[in-house]
Amino acid sequence: MATRLDPRPIGVFDSGVGGLTVLSELRARLPHESTIYLGDNGRTPYGPRPADEVRRFTLEAVDWLIGQDVKLLVLACNTATARALGVARIRSTVPVIGVVRPGAVAAAAATRSAHVAVIATDGTVESDAYPDAIVEAAPGTTVAQLACPELVPMVEAGILEGRRAESVLRGYLEPLLGGDPMIDTLLLGCTHYPLLRPVIESIAGDRVAVVDSAFTTSLAIEDLLDALGSRADSEAGARHRVATTGDVGAFISIASRLFGDQLPQVEAARIERASAVPLD
Ligand code: DGL
Repeated sequence: MATRLDPRPIGVFDSGVGGLTVLSELRARLPHESTIYLGDNGRTPYGPRPADEVRRFTLEAVDWLIGQDVKLLVLACNTATARALGVARIRSTVPVIGVVRPGAVAAAAATRSAHVAVIATDGTVESDAYPDAIVEAAPGTTVAQLACPELVPMVEAGILEGRRAESVLRGYLEPLLGGDPMIDTLLLGCTHYPLLRPVIESIAGDRVAVVDSAFTTSLAIEDLLDALGSRADSEAGARHRVATTGDVGAFISIASRLFGDQLPQVEAARIERASAVPLD
């Protein structure tokens, strides 16, 4: 089959700054690809919201990104993936990749004892998307889940380390780490949580592998582009855009910690209310 080249950007969506952890891996792995990131910071967090509201917000983001002429969409939000991947695929005119299956694969590859714990938002935990996906990837694995509703607002507020971050994380993680059966793998089932990784790892200790979906999602994107024959031209030079529905200054102060001077100018986005939202 002749290789086609497709210069259109890859669209990446999250409820806020969390999906930047996926964008960062994507840009590192596929440096020739252009990207456009949408953070719905104006309406974050999604985790505590009812499933139908998360579906509507996600479809509004899908419509916005499709309107930017993307060739592929990445739901870089576990909550949106868990609640809305199916409807996003129905709505979208381009392929849609979620982060739950890649996260499950990362956990399945890391565990030796087949005892895994997942920390995530209320919505993701309630959906049971991770236990289902991990058991599919590694049958027989036990999966403990814990919702950590304080973490997304903390990250969005730029609190990534220090006493407050440590005490909130200890409160969540210590019971999980001391549970029975003893876990050997902790999956960060929310794309905001890798921003807290140094504190999480210091609490989890050497015995526990801390994994997330960012790297395996970048592999899934690469595989899909190859299967479709739609990589970008390596000579053309990648272009990157970043947009938020929230406060631009607050977004920049967190995003620049990840991207430094590689962060493009941050645009303000206004997304339209979606009509005709399918139920599932
Ligand atoms: N980054 C989103 C996730 O992966 C956070 C969801 C939220 O806004 O609560 O679940």
